[in-house]
Amino acid sequence: MGNFVNSSVLAAMAGITNGNFSNHCLVEGGAGFVTIGGYSIGKEMIRASIKSKQRGRNEFILNYREEEKEIYHEISKISESSRVIINLRVNTYSVAKNFAIRFRDLLNKDQPTLEINAHCRQTEIVEKGGGQSLLQRIDTLEKIVKAFQSEDFKVSLKIRGNTVPPSFLIPQIEKWHLDFLHIDSYKEGSPGTDLKLLNHYTKALDIAIIGNNSVIDLQSALAILNTGASYFSIARAAQRNPSIFSNLLKHF
Ligand SMILES: Cc1cc2nc3c(=O)[nH]c(=O)nc-3n(C[C@H](O)[C@H](O)[C@H](O)COP(=O)(O)O)c2cc1C
Repeated sequence: MGNFVNSSVLAAMAGITNGNFSNHCLVEGGAGFVTIGGYSIGKEMIRASIKSKQRGRNEFILNYREEEKEIYHEISKISESSRVIINLRVNTYSVAKNFAIRFRDLLNKDQPTLEINAHCRQTEIVEKGGGQSLLQRIDTLEKIVKAFQSEDFKVSLKIRGNTVPPSFLIPQIEKWHLDFLHIDSYKEGSPGTDLKLLNHYTKALDIAIIGNNSVIDLQSALAILNTGASYFSIARAAQRNPSIFSNLLKHF
């Protein structure tokens, strides 16, 4: 289980999973790991988030060039930053590299994990090359992974599993030596989690996989772990009940 205290993870919910909410899920709620964000970094992604907030989406808006300080301020509210994943919307290598260098300077030895959001499908983000569109810009995605790794950050990649064939993504991921692959395993038109897809990834890859989508109880959490995933993550059900993690884990 590596450095994780348990196999449960709070997944990102923009506008909701800030430092206070995530700390609550960690300390009172019993989560093994908590995500904050998603945060848009760099001028283009911040502008995209502002536009999407203007049309009513719940978003965190950071100030351009203050991103790392504002994120640092949020993680300082969380009791153990080594158990924090920071979900980031980033669309270029240079934004990733500059962020990683400046953020590294702020941190002590406790290291949060940086999660690249290749999951968001909001038009404003996607048309500027962020979120899900990174899976169509694989060279840029690779450079962003390397930019974070070059500053010694652990890296998680968050994807929407059924948007790209595993046969395309798996050979790329094998090259990148990610710390975590976080898969939202939703399948259009089917209820619950696509366990077959998770099985496919866990059999093919030798990295820690965080399985996500529709965990609401012990049965749905176990179903994800039984695919070979190392962790399961929860978003919406944790918003309704931040103690869901300890409620589930007492059965393990
Ligand atoms: C309000 C809301 C905001 C979200 N924001 C993000 C985000 O910023 N980054 C991200 O990777 N996923 C985001 N997600 C997706 C969740 O992390 C998760 O993948 C999805 O809700 C499925 O998990 P669940 O069934 O446990 O809710 C968001 C989900 C919700 C409901």
